[in-house]
Parts: sequence; C-alpha cells; structure tokens
Amino acid sequence: MAADLTNLPHSIWWDKDSDDGISGVYLIDQTRLPLQGDVLRCCTLEGVEIAIKSLALRGAPALGVGAAMAIAVFSENESLANTADEWLQEIDAAATRISAARPTAVNLSWGAEKARDFAHRQISAGVGLSKAKQALVDFAKQMAADDEKTNRAIGVNGAALLMPGSNVLTICNAGSLATAYFGTALGVVYEAYGQGKIDHVWALETRPVNQGARLTTWELKCAGIPSALIADSMAASVMAQGWVDAILVGADRICSNGDTANKIGTLALAVLANHYAIPFYVCAPDSSIDRSLIDGSQIPIEQRDPRELTGFTATGVILPDDEATSTAFDTLTAQGSKALKFKAGHEMLIERKGGGYSFDAWFATTPPNIEVYNPAFDVTPTKLITSIITENGIFNPSKLG
Ligand code: MRU
Repeated sequence: MAADLTNLPHSIWWDKDSDDGISGVYLIDQTRLPLQGDVLRCCTLEGVEIAIKSLALRGAPALGVGAAMAIAVFSENESLANTADEWLQEIDAAATRISAARPTAVNLSWGAEKARDFAHRQISAGVGLSKAKQALVDFAKQMAADDEKTNRAIGVNGAALLMPGSNVLTICNAGSLATAYFGTALGVVYEAYGQGKIDHVWALETRPVNQGARLTTWELKCAGIPSALIADSMAASVMAQGWVDAILVGADRICSNGDTANKIGTLALAVLANHYAIPFYVCAPDSSIDRSLIDGSQIPIEQRDPRELTGFTATGVILPDDEATSTAFDTLTAQGSKALKFKAGHEMLIERKGGGYSFDAWFATTPPNIEVYNPAFDVTPTKLITSIITENGIFNPSKLG
C-alpha cells in the first residue's frame, strides 16, 4: 500500500495575497507544530530571516528554498533600486545577509547563491529590471518545485537499498517539513513503504528541540506509516534487540571526503550502527555537499541558546469554558497581550487569539546560571557511513569527491 501523501505538508510556498496584492513567502510555523499549524506570511527579507533563526523554517533543503525566496521577496517588496546596477548591489547584500542566518546547513548559502547568480545572469543577458525581478520570483518558485523532484529521486534511490519489511530508525526531521515537499530520509521511507519495504519507523525524540517527537511523528502519522517515538537514549537498546534494519538520516553539510554534519545525536547513532553492523545511510541532495571543505573539522557548528537545554517550551491555546475564567484572562490581556515572569525563571506570554488566549511559555528545569554546551549538530566521519544517497545515485562516502 502506498504512503498516503494527501495530508503531507508543504513547508514553504510563494503566494500573493488577494486582498492587499502583496507577495509573500508562506511557511508553516514549525515551532508550534504539531499542536498548532499556524501559517506565517513573510513579506520582507527580515521576516524570512527571523523565521529561519527561530526554527519556524528549518531543515537544510527547506532553508535553501527559503534563502532564494527571501531574496525574491526582498526584490519584490523592498527594493529601492532604480537601475540594474543598484538592484544587483541590493541582491548581493540580501544574499550575504540571509546566508548568515544559520551557519551549518550549506543549502542556505547555496540557495542564496543560486538566486544571486540568477539575478546577475538576467542583467548580463540584457533583461530589463522589471522583467528580471519577475524572473527572480519565478526562479525561487521553481526551486521549490525542483526540490520536490530531487527528493522523490532520493526516495527511489534509497528505497532500492532496503529489504522488504524493514524497520528503520531516523533522527530529527528529514521529512517534508525539512524540504519544500516530500523529504530526504523520510522521502526514502515514503517511497519504500509503497514498495512494501517498510514495516515500521523508530523516530528519535531529538533533544533539545524535539524535532523528531514533534515533527517526524506528526508527518509519519499524516502519511499513515507505522512508527514509534523513542527518547534519544533508547537507540542503543532497540538496536541491541535486533529491531533496526537500517538507519536513515538527513544531512546539513557533507564534505568532499564524506564527513557529514547532521542534527546532534547523529554521530552517536553511527557509532552504534557500526557496533551492531546496521547499515547507516545519509540521504541528502547534491546541494548539501560542500566540495570546498576537505573534511568535517572545517564545518561550522551552530551553537544554540542555552535555554533550549535549561528548560522546556510549551505553546497552546486556552479556551475558557466559564465566564469567570474568560473575565480573568480578559483582564490579564486588556492590552492585547501580557508577558508574565515567575520565580525560578519561568516565563509566559499570553495573547488574545480568536475566541481564546494563546500562550507561549518557557519553564525552567535546571538551577539558574549553570554552564551549558548546546551544539545543534555533530559530524559523522565518513568511515561510519555505509552510503550517501543523493538524487544522482548511491555513493560510497569516501569516494564522494
Ligand atoms: O536544526 P534543524 O531542525 O534545521 O536541523 C535539521 C537537521 O538536522 C536535518 O536532519 C537536516 O537538515 C536534513 S533535513 C532533510
């Protein structure tokens, strides 16, 4: 039976609002999934930049599309250029800025560079400014469509490696949400499931931001694929019991020697896979390969906010079902929203939303002011990777270059 892709989400798309006629980059706010499926509309470069920094848009291939769309939305809504030269200067600055939003996933600067290069080629070919601007928007939209094609090809290539009835394990979210559509590691799952090659998926929680628990389990449920959530610390146990036939992970940057940066915890999985002789597959588009880097020691690793580790976030909507509670929340949010701070450092922002009140809370779980080390990615050495699967085929990682 094929995976049910009818409810599989697109992470990012371009649209023009029919009321105000303004174009924007639309994306699902992944910080609020799965409880809320808010769609964000970003009409400025800064809007997309904030979405990327806050992880509302995340996952390497989705970041590549996001970078190109950020530059296109800047050109469409914010450009002050009167001449082609001025426009290209603005585009260069926008590309530099969006590339710096996050350091590890090479797709971000790849997407920015593709859009920047396209703009320059248009002008060099003598295309007029207004036509070049429209062409840039079309180009960014096409990148989203191309990303889906790439992921489907990765899916077909990866499925060929799996045995019928496999139990696979994955970390973080390398699914439709991490790409424009379909996914890389989960793209392999979707394709292989249709071929009868997937029995069950183990989804690692992926501390500290829980993209596995929040996003991967949700996606797999949307697609009707049997799966179970496990904490990161349980991976060894399920492997030891013979319950994992293959490990499928995505990538944020692959060096020319095959060393691969991916979500923190990936390296531990590769070490375990090696110990238990389980194939360890990296599934990623060619755009995740950074041929300028010789090995993984050169990959910049993003360090994130210590608060991701020293507490947990909670988000939701309160819908009071009695008058007294409604009145209390109305009083609290008389100005529209209220930021609350509690002892021990807990924080909560309450806002009126629809007929209720949305809340964004952070609850401290550690003593205050402790030292924290919170890298978002680690590097798996090439010798622990069985194969790298791209849209172009299946590669021995040490022969990638
Ligand atoms: O911090 P994130 O959520 O952007 O990290 C994402 C990952 O590590 C993914 O595994 C990687 O980008 C590949 S996504 C197809």
